[in-house]
Amino acid sequence: MARVVLGMLGLGTVGTGVVELLSKHRHLTLKKVAVKSLDKERSSKPSCPLTTDVDEIINDPEIEVLVEVMGGENPTVSYLEQAIKKRKHIVTANKEVLAKHGPRLFALAKEHGVAIFFEASVAGGVPLLSTIHKGLEANEIESVTGILNGTTNFILSNMEAGNSYAAALKEAQDLGFAEADPTADVDGFDVAYKLSVLAALGFGHFVKPETIYKEGIRNITEEDMALAKEFGYRIKLLGTAAKGSSNGTSNNTGFDVRVHPTLVPLDHPLASVSGPNNGILVRGHAVGQLTLIGPGAGKLPTASAVVGDLMNLAGALKLPDFASYFQPTIDASPASATPPLAWKCPFYLRLVVKDTPGVIGKIGNIFGTHNISISTIIQRGVEGKEATVVIMTHDVLGKDMDAALDELKKCDFLSSLGNAIRIFRSA
Ligand SMILES: NC(=O)c1ccc[n+]([C@@H]2O[C@H](COP(=O)([O-])OP(=O)(O)OC[C@H]3O[C@@H](n4cnc5c(N)ncnc54)[C@H](OP(=O)(O)O)[C@@H]3O)[C@@H](O)[C@H]2O)c1
Repeated sequence: MARVVLGMLGLGTVGTGVVELLSKHRHLTLKKVAVKSLDKERSSKPSCPLTTDVDEIINDPEIEVLVEVMGGENPTVSYLEQAIKKRKHIVTANKEVLAKHGPRLFALAKEHGVAIFFEASVAGGVPLLSTIHKGLEANEIESVTGILNGTTNFILSNMEAGNSYAAALKEAQDLGFAEADPTADVDGFDVAYKLSVLAALGFGHFVKPETIYKEGIRNITEEDMALAKEFGYRIKLLGTAAKGSSNGTSNNTGFDVRVHPTLVPLDHPLASVSGPNNGILVRGHAVGQLTLIGPGAGKLPTASAVVGDLMNLAGALKLPDFASYFQPTIDASPASATPPLAWKCPFYLRLVVKDTPGVIGKIGNIFGTHNISISTIIQRGVEGKEATVVIMTHDVLGKDMDAALDELKKCDFLSSLGNAIRIFRSA
């Protein structure tokens, strides 16, 4: 196979894995790697030189492909733009830069006749993007739903054993599954970026990440986990990207793209995805539903996706006009996600109330006024003191649930609104 010369930005978790896997593919020759600090102690180093000057890679005419595994938005996006203008193909693992700047980067790549490969940007080692883009090419993609963040899945799995959110987060940090600042993972930003990329591949539009509804896992308690299990569910942080018309909402025009905790039935395939794994359901109009489960992050699983992209690219590099074959057709104008008020799904609610006569009736009245039908309600507590009320509803429109919760918050009998969590509903 013809030799292909690569330059790489980043030699952290993923970059180190890429170097390790490239040692078995000698035709993919790594010429130089850019890092932030040359003084840093590294467990392994490539045989090529390291540099802190990214320009040495971007301006090197021999380097045909830029592997971007340094992450973040800035200055990364500018490095990618410069490399594309120098007609270098890009292989990136960076969902944030794609979600925020994808339309511009893909348009620029088209203009300069180069390709952007990004399998590793979503679901790490799981070949999700190539499945959607090539494996399911004959399909109209209707929805992609799943567990797209291994860190939060690890934390929630850990909480099922009775641990608090704080204890489970600490263990995730100690084991290297969570960053010191876990915001991007636990507040849903990471999943929102991935959903934006998935919408681009599946529906042909990047969905603006700032319009994606994000609800993280910080407020989930071990009590919610235990109650969910009692009712036959497991709580997972699910990301969904669906065409508006396929999700039962009243909006048939937009994209239903969102991330929030969800009660998943225990016998559903996503409920069995545990620890740091990812699990994704893809629905195509012809194939029906596929389930992919596997490692969504980590050194070698993520490097497997990066090096897979490099091998695909190397195999096609000498063919005329090959970039267009690999590039998905993505509209350069990003789309917005539909707002949550229009979604319809059942809810789980945990309330803490003063245990006084008639409370259950009052809750029932409020829900009735807002078109909410209750499927199950239980009350637990010490007579005359505080009691926990757990309610499972039938399908509710988001706006009706919001209105009912606003009214409940004004009631004297409510001590605290424990949690309101959506229950899984097929997209
Ligand atoms: N980790 C995963 O499991 C995983 C999974 C899927 C996707 N990804 C994505 O892969 C990318 C890399 O993640 P990672 O976990 O490997 O990150 P990481 O361990 O933090 O490594 C980042 C690397 O980039 C280098 N770097 C940072 N800023 C730089 C700059 N301005 N100029 C040159 N080099 C710079 C760092 O240099 P120093 O070494 O000198 O600090 C480091 O080598 C991110 O986009 C991430 O979202 C990661």
